[in-house]
Amino acid sequence: MRCRCGKKAVFHSKVYRVTLCDECYPKFYLEIVKRSIKRYNILKKSEKILTCVSGGKDSCAMAYALKELNYDIELFHIDLGIGEYSRESFRSVEELSEVLDLNLNVLKLKDYGFTIEDVERRKVCSACGIAKRYLMNLFARENGFDVIATAHTSEDIVNFFIKNMLSGNIEYISKLRPRIESFDRFVAKAKPLFERTEKENATLVLTLNLPFTQIECPHAPQDVWKEIIYDVELKRRGFKQNFVRAIVKLAENLKLDWKVKHCKICGEISNTDICSFCKLRSTYGVLSNQS
Ligand code: AMP
Ligand code: FES
Ligand code: ZN
Repeated sequence: MRCRCGKKAVFHSKVYRVTLCDECYPKFYLEIVKRSIKRYNILKKSEKILTCVSGGKDSCAMAYALKELNYDIELFHIDLGIGEYSRESFRSVEELSEVLDLNLNVLKLKDYGFTIEDVERRKVCSACGIAKRYLMNLFARENGFDVIATAHTSEDIVNFFIKNMLSGNIEYISKLRPRIESFDRFVAKAKPLFERTEKENATLVLTLNLPFTQIECPHAPQDVWKEIIYDVELKRRGFKQNFVRAIVKLAENLKLDWKVKHCKICGEISNTDICSFCKLRSTYGVLSNQS
């Protein structure tokens, strides 16, 4: 297959009806990211954006796109202390910060008294999510960032939606909007890649030869829903992106119901007297050693 410019194609999409080479694809990618950001008011040029990078392909693509689109960004990485996976992730984000010439901020979960390896097996993923959300928000607020950008993809959003619907967690769906404004001690959150697919992100980082790690987190569960989403996409092209737009419409019509309670230990917003991060610290880390 050939690109419209005549070169050998690296990307073909029935959804966008395009076939593109390695030179035309990055331009196309930037154009579709720009369009999403504008249509959904996800980011502003005046904002200081904390761009959260895991070391994987999706956040690598996000960092490249936001930099190329001239947003004011710095990179942020959390070292979760998951053995070789965390070491390799750190090497990738370090290289990415050099290649893109961007400042890299790093926090180590260990410095907060525990690592993901200390958490009991069946609670690892939820503990990891709690720690990441907590540290992203804390770092952004304490360092004067206006918004936190994460590289959630259309697959992630559809996956969250299905899982939360099935577990009756309807209120959570309001959080699936591409931008959540700041509130109390919460810094605004943005998902500039919410319409992108993993394939689009992978094609970008591979064509530009950007550094990213392919090592999977050893705790990542086999995700049956993600497999089902891919199967549906094979039968109905465009399913993910159409579905994600419908989810966002729904999310924007649901009220974001913030609870204005503060953790009695750290002062951050919490649904309960003690926030989930302080509970983790008291179970696995320093707070338990202090008591
Ligand atoms: P996940 O929760 O692993 O699906 O990741 C969702 C998004 O959170 C990624 O696309 C990144 O933007 C961000 N993220 C994940 N892990 C890290 C990390 N260790 N440090 C900084 N940001 C991260
Ligand atoms: Fe969080 Fe694997 S990255 S448990
Ligand atoms: Zn707390």
